[in-house]
Amino acid sequence: MAFLADSLARIKPSATIAVTNKARELKAAGRDVIGLGAGEPDFDTPDNIKEAAIKAIRDGKTKYTAVDGMPELKSAIAAKFMRENGIAYKPAEITVGTGGKQVLYNALMATLNPGDEVVIPAPYWVSYPEMVALAGGTPVEIATTLEAGYKVAPADLDRAITPRTKWVIFNSPSNPTGAAYTHAELRTLADVLLKHPHVWVLTDDMYEHLVYDGFRFATFVEVEPSLVTRTLTVNGVSKAYAMTGWRIGYGGGPRELIQAMATIQSQSTSNPSSISQWAAVEALTGPQDFIPKNAELFRQRRDLVVSMLNQARGIACPRPEGAFYVFPSCAGTIGRTTAGGRKIGDDVDFVTGLLEEEGVAVVQGSAFGMAPHFRISYATSNAALEEACTRIQRFCGGLR
Ligand SMILES: Cc1ncc(COP(=O)(O)O)c(C=O)c1O
Repeated sequence: MAFLADSLARIKPSATIAVTNKARELKAAGRDVIGLGAGEPDFDTPDNIKEAAIKAIRDGKTKYTAVDGMPELKSAIAAKFMRENGIAYKPAEITVGTGGKQVLYNALMATLNPGDEVVIPAPYWVSYPEMVALAGGTPVEIATTLEAGYKVAPADLDRAITPRTKWVIFNSPSNPTGAAYTHAELRTLADVLLKHPHVWVLTDDMYEHLVYDGFRFATFVEVEPSLVTRTLTVNGVSKAYAMTGWRIGYGGGPRELIQAMATIQSQSTSNPSSISQWAAVEALTGPQDFIPKNAELFRQRRDLVVSMLNQARGIACPRPEGAFYVFPSCAGTIGRTTAGGRKIGDDVDFVTGLLEEEGVAVVQGSAFGMAPHFRISYATSNAALEEACTRIQRFCGGLR
């Protein structure tokens, strides 16, 4: 349509949201569908956080706040960075947005010029390349392999960097693979970054608290403190505190960048909801004991899903360190025909067949830059996961 901006031609709508909508449609039409597409915890927001928000409303904390976050929340975030990551960000080096998504968007909008490159390891969260393109930059993918646990090799990172590279985006634990980098692995990547002082690091630590089997989370500035002058450390309350709907994310970085991001936010959305900000203060400063409890539930679900998927014919599923996703390969199903007579030529055919014939909604790996794979979110009940995996086994077992 001629009326729409050219920039829209550069981006596509979120594939994960599309799958969720399709599953919802089928459900509304009376079909028995298990949705494993959504990227959010199935737990409820803890009561102490809800109460803090209710109190904020009662106390009249319902007005505009400082554009990129009220001082009370910035202090709570600074304390969090120190307590959990050993990073000494001052409040002026902290920004708060309407979800981590807005923080990432602001950072790219504030820094990218046409022709600037942003290095993104694949598979990646669907929004990174789209946001880069929308901001006028050029996404540059680095391929990884299932065998290497979907982690980028230092030599490949080195090779992907050019004089035009502005940012490298890292996401550990990862959406969509669940892969998380150890301190030692980040060290080898930090060494590459030290060779390229013009490159900035955008680290998306959204799944920090969802790591299993004693894995120790690490982030770049903690591993290599000198990177603090060119890193934006992004995090948020959505995943760890089951607060996806509240829309609070934050970042720590050099003051000049933080100010530029606030300028963008001041001319778009202004402050994130004041009520949600008070809830986030409680999340970050209140009791934290439910986090390991939830993580233990997620670990059990991961183990259930990984073991059942590896019993499905043609599926290979590594056991990731964190997040609530697995990213199995369906390479062993390509070229076969489903019980319903569909030919599986790629991962889109696989997920379409699975949804239509068995009522299980997952997302094709190609949406995340790696095929033929698919992503399962295991943030749902054990019973639903068991049933879904049984159906996947049946679907794969029925392939001719
Ligand atoms: C890797 C990653 N980063 C950022 C976000 C954004 O989270 P929010 O905007 O809810 O803070 C998500 C949400 O799905 C994500 O998976």
